[in-house]
Amino acid sequence: MTRHFLDLWRLDAATLQAILNEARRRKDARLGWPKGKPDVDAPLAGRTLAMIFQKNSTRTRFSFDAAMRQLGGASTIATASDMQLGRGETIEDTARVLSRMVDAVMIRANRHEDVEAFAAASSAPVINGLTDKSHPCQIMADILTYEERRGSIAGRTLAWVGDGNNVCSSFIHAAAPFGFELVIACPEGFHPNPADLARAKAAGASVRVTGDPRQAARDADAVITDTWVSMGDTNAEARLEALGPYQVDAALMALAKPEALFFHDLPAHRGEEVTAEVIDGPQSVIWDEAENRIHAQKAVLAWCLEAL
Ligand code: CP
Ligand code: NVA
Repeated sequence: MTRHFLDLWRLDAATLQAILNEARRRKDARLGWPKGKPDVDAPLAGRTLAMIFQKNSTRTRFSFDAAMRQLGGASTIATASDMQLGRGETIEDTARVLSRMVDAVMIRANRHEDVEAFAAASSAPVINGLTDKSHPCQIMADILTYEERRGSIAGRTLAWVGDGNNVCSSFIHAAAPFGFELVIACPEGFHPNPADLARAKAAGASVRVTGDPRQAARDADAVITDTWVSMGDTNAEARLEALGPYQVDAALMALAKPEALFFHDLPAHRGEEVTAEVIDGPQSVIWDEAENRIHAQKAVLAWCLEAL
């Protein structure tokens, strides 16, 4: 079976834990090294990753490139519009061709179904680098970040405040395998995907949705938010208006546990989903989250390429 990394709910808890353990082990082993220097064992020497972007990216593109270099491999990057994909070549044909040329493919796509279709046609592992429906690599980095600061995330309560979007969905997917409780506060019309909620509940996760951000934040171990207008969203004005009462500010953070951490996957919009005081304040771990994209994705790549 080709080891695709498409969504967290598709992998079992033991595999996800093994990936995080590998991320921690590799991060610890290279503390203070130049960022482009390969790990001692260079497990992906001779291997290549193709990265395809249908949407903008800063963190995902540079962190995957750094990850491949540190594993001893190499990466190639392309914007989908520069490829024949942009002129109508099918996803499936692109997948068949690329999987003859590279060892793995990371895709950031507008439509989740396109990543699924790519993976179905690809003989090389495919990694979801964000779609309209999910962002699994981000949540692996976020859990790594939480656990570095506070120990195991199992049994902790996470509050998601704002839009029930793609990043929120991947937190929902992670709740059962990682054993944390998730309370999601969002307005009507911006609820998370009901299929994700149903799947999580069937898997035994404790996930609930409320309209009240204060209820979600109260006694939480972490407060998490994301942009109110994701890439591809068209109704920006309506979103800003509906989501206004869901801003994470100091008063909301004060309801969480004193040791609670603040998470944001970035890019951020200070003064919209979060105040500058919170995102640039002492509880915020946003820069660790960003760096940990490298470490988490190294372990994802190693798993996909059976070096783990
Ligand atoms: N958080 C994240 O995925 O950032 P980019 O959009 O910059 O890749
Ligand atoms: N929800 C955001 C995340 C960006 C990393 C988006 O999809 O644009």
